[in-house]
Amino acid sequence: MKLKQLAFLLPFVAVTANAEDIVISTDNNALVYNVADNGRVYQKYFGKKLKNASDYASMPNGQEIYITSGMEDYYEPALHIVHADGNPSTLLTYTGHKTSTLADGAKQTVISLSDKEYSDNVDVYFIVYPEHDIIKTYTTITNGEKKPIKLEKFASSMLHFDNGDYYLTQFNGDWASEANMSETKLEYGRKQLDTKLGARANMFCSPFFQLGIDSPAKENSGDLLVGTLGWTGNFRFTFEVDHKGELRVISGINPYASSRILKKGETFSTPEFIFTLSDEGQGKASRNFHDWARDHQLYKGNDTRMTLLNNWEATYFDFDENKLVNLIGEAKELGVDMFLLDDGWFGNKYPRHSDTQGLGDWDETKNKLPNGIGALTDAAKKNGVKFGLWIEPEMVNPKSELYEKHKDWVITLPNRDEYYFRNQLVLDLSNPKVQDYVFDIVDGLKTKYPDIAFFKWDCNSPITNIYSNYEKMDQDHLYVDYVKGLYNVLDRIQAKYPDLLMMMCSGGGGRSDYEGLKYFTEFWPSDNTDPIERLYIQWGFSQIFPAKTLCAHVTTWNRSTPVKFRTNVAMMGKLGFDLKLDDMSKDEVAYCKRAIKNYNSLKPVILEGDQYRLVSPYEGEHAATMYVGKNDGDAVLFTFDIYPRYKQQITKSESTVKLNGLNPSARYAVTEIDRTDGKDSKIGEYSGEYLMQVGIPLFTLNRLNSRVFSIKKI
Ligand code: DGJ
Repeated sequence: MKLKQLAFLLPFVAVTANAEDIVISTDNNALVYNVADNGRVYQKYFGKKLKNASDYASMPNGQEIYITSGMEDYYEPALHIVHADGNPSTLLTYTGHKTSTLADGAKQTVISLSDKEYSDNVDVYFIVYPEHDIIKTYTTITNGEKKPIKLEKFASSMLHFDNGDYYLTQFNGDWASEANMSETKLEYGRKQLDTKLGARANMFCSPFFQLGIDSPAKENSGDLLVGTLGWTGNFRFTFEVDHKGELRVISGINPYASSRILKKGETFSTPEFIFTLSDEGQGKASRNFHDWARDHQLYKGNDTRMTLLNNWEATYFDFDENKLVNLIGEAKELGVDMFLLDDGWFGNKYPRHSDTQGLGDWDETKNKLPNGIGALTDAAKKNGVKFGLWIEPEMVNPKSELYEKHKDWVITLPNRDEYYFRNQLVLDLSNPKVQDYVFDIVDGLKTKYPDIAFFKWDCNSPITNIYSNYEKMDQDHLYVDYVKGLYNVLDRIQAKYPDLLMMMCSGGGGRSDYEGLKYFTEFWPSDNTDPIERLYIQWGFSQIFPAKTLCAHVTTWNRSTPVKFRTNVAMMGKLGFDLKLDDMSKDEVAYCKRAIKNYNSLKPVILEGDQYRLVSPYEGEHAATMYVGKNDGDAVLFTFDIYPRYKQQITKSESTVKLNGLNPSARYAVTEIDRTDGKDSKIGEYSGEYLMQVGIPLFTLNRLNSRVFSIKKI
């Protein structure tokens, strides 16, 4: 490929480069900054790494690393400080940079900048995971002035491109329709993806994007930037194309209603923007993220995950001890690892018989659970399954004892009528006392019932009626301090209970970010478990999150879909069930039991292997995804026939699935497994080259048909 196609050069700004290049590189890419004669730092290059680092010296400088407000730039800045004297401009010059190796092997470079007029300092951090082609970047901003300053804008990252054509893929939707992918060509002007929901921050928009450089995003080819913000709150990505066709990408906390007063000497750290650059499209970018997440970010990233039976859709709020003990028995019968008790187990003055009351009162409802959670953990133990419990500790129903006692802990406007999202309000986690209260919920339950192995931590409401008793005159700090308060609680839980596993849930995928996943082992992508919808939702989330993070349950949503189809979709993530055995026929139960066994033996490939998305549900009536074991291992392939029409024909090429990620010179036996008749069926033996280049006809015209294939080296 020509250099022009690879390099995102920025040749138009006439600032001369001096000898000081700062090269931040992964195994395949380089991001190069230069300290110019005027002392300012410019992005010179971002693209495929060049063999001779000395070649970077001959490149001209581009745009500034972290453009500030009030100076000569006419577009969106990354940093806007209002200084103590009211001056809204900032000029940052280089004061030094240093590199070091972090405990997890990552390479860190910190570029230090300062506004000499005001003694404010900005450090720009880059943390590099070379073998994964992943870079994390964030900034710290320190007030060096004698009085408080105000941060109006404080991005985590600013990246520049000079390619002319840019194609943005966003992931948005709503409850039960998360992470829909759509692509737009960016033209002159500004496009922003952001959320202002506070908690349940990602209900409408996920905190990640893909940027096709020069051409639209493709699965296996093309230059593509994929970026995400590690922040469990309001985020904003700004994409701005200027009059010369140059693009700046600014990522960070959403500054909406969040200006920040920094006291003298105080430092504000922005969250991490995490990104990869792929020259083989979305597939490689996803695998970079999946590998990096398992090795470096995700809580217990290299551990396996438990299958489970959840009672939410099996019972909703209508259960008692007997029903639950029966379900625990069904968990055992199915052969899953854990039983998870969902919403509805707590509250006495206001028993939680529906979502209208009880949130905040975390005592077992006596007439439902006369012997407490202990009777359930005992039953689970007897049945040889683990026990998990649902909580929603950041929230309160106005109809609760907590609200009656501690209205001062609730985010609500003092002088207006309250309005509710799902009949509830959000607790004020900026207040350390509320942080203690939330920590104590988990600590109290774990102390009383040490056998609780897992929490499903839900968060169903955005921040509404926004006003904090605690923040007083600093109301603009609330959105950010809320998230920091949450992390404080999660840090304390993790330190005290390192073996505790937790699912991040927010009415479905309302929380889906990589900072959250430092504390949670997995997340609940959507309440929508209709398997056809899930093909799309999981396709979207898989762009950035590995299979072991994506909880996928077999339920009765769209129950006319064969249970095998529902199960096979769920097997592509972290498998669970959310139904009663009598929702199924005997044959279906027998099938599920076998499927769980199959899943257990496929887990190392699905959860730890490389994922290859082969055929997209967005493109037709079939879908296929495969997982290949690490180190040239065996593979597993899932194929789905969705909605073929009556009398529709299927051509040979439409029915053919070309595999990926195999060793071209190895030979493989392809066998259809996980069949409803319980018998495996041999398809044939082929070379890896044949399977990848020619492919085999595996799609059918059977309606709502799914197939699982084992691809084993001979
Ligand atoms: C929303 C979650 O997404 C569901 O799975 C379930 O836990 C309900 N909350 C319970 O209220």
